[in-house]
Amino acid sequence: MKYLIDKLHKNKTLEREEFLTLLQNRDEETSEYLYSLARSISQEQFGKDIYLRGLIEFTNYCRNDCYYCGIRGGNRNAERYRLTKEQILECCQIGHDLGFRTFVLQGGEDYAFTDEILVDILKSMKAGYPDCAITLSIGERTHEQYVKYFEAGADRFLLRHETANEEHYNLLHPDSMSLENRKQCLRNLKEIGYQVGTGFMVGSPYQTLECLVEDLLFIKELGPHMIGIGPFIPHKDTKFAKFPAGDVELTRFLISILRLMNPQALIPATTALGTMDKKGREKGILSGSNVLMPNLSPITVRKKYDLYDNKICTGDEAAECNCCIRRRVSSIGYQIVDQRGDHPSYS
Ligand code: 5AD
Ligand code: FES
Repeated sequence: MKYLIDKLHKNKTLEREEFLTLLQNRDEETSEYLYSLARSISQEQFGKDIYLRGLIEFTNYCRNDCYYCGIRGGNRNAERYRLTKEQILECCQIGHDLGFRTFVLQGGEDYAFTDEILVDILKSMKAGYPDCAITLSIGERTHEQYVKYFEAGADRFLLRHETANEEHYNLLHPDSMSLENRKQCLRNLKEIGYQVGTGFMVGSPYQTLECLVEDLLFIKELGPHMIGIGPFIPHKDTKFAKFPAGDVELTRFLISILRLMNPQALIPATTALGTMDKKGREKGILSGSNVLMPNLSPITVRKKYDLYDNKICTGDEAAECNCCIRRRVSSIGYQIVDQRGDHPSYS
């Protein structure tokens, strides 16, 4: 397997069959070799700097019904909330004081936030924090809408493709959604000029290693600036409640492969990874991640943005996230930098 990893390092990609062989033969020794190579590539690009993205979960209303997601529209048990513009700006202020220079506005597909309202929020954020990058993560919209948000000041957009296998996509989503539309959204975002993030869940129901190979090849083809992956974690109010969660080591293995394929990409160690393992985020960094996305949402709503069970940083400890994150990062010999952390091709 070392041969395949070296080939991946050199060529930044592999043939479909080779990727599959690599995933099928994952063992401890191969993993350690891959992690350390990915780690050194990250360090060549970014040193031991870790960028922060302050996540503001501004609404958990959603018109969609992705079967795995705790805040899907059909979940009657979800307690819904929306933040006001003032609350959002307050999150920015707190984040800015803590050194954050990127804010991610993430929410369900909530059409109560009309384009007019969103544009107003974006303009206010840009005016109040001109040194900060703004990222949107609000799902599928038309080309025209994406243009409006871009012109209002959004710099980046996160939209995970979730799985690049069409059959698998259809097992995870209702008929109203399609992989083709998702991909079109991503192409539109890139074409408009956003720094684009995509990604997928690891170990989602019915996923096979072949599906994961398709995810890798799709990402190669798209060339996103950011790649967010995390383990699937079941949520009690979904039809996947009884499915097993995704594997931490497989997630790390994929983070490392993605780092070898995309040396300059921004790759977060996700909250889901930190939920599955107390040291999950540190382990992510040690396998090639270079971004963390701490939660800046008001403590009072954090439990309600309930994508999956047992999500971390939603309870009493949540007030400590900033110190906790900095401590965690320095415990493994890395440091947080208070910068926008644009993709190298943008800075
Ligand atoms: N487990 C893990 N990740 C999830 N997401 C949604 N539901 C779950 C779950 N049950 C992820 C999706 C989405 C991101 C915001 O959260 O990949 O894109
Ligand atoms: Fe939130 Fe550690 S990062 S408590």
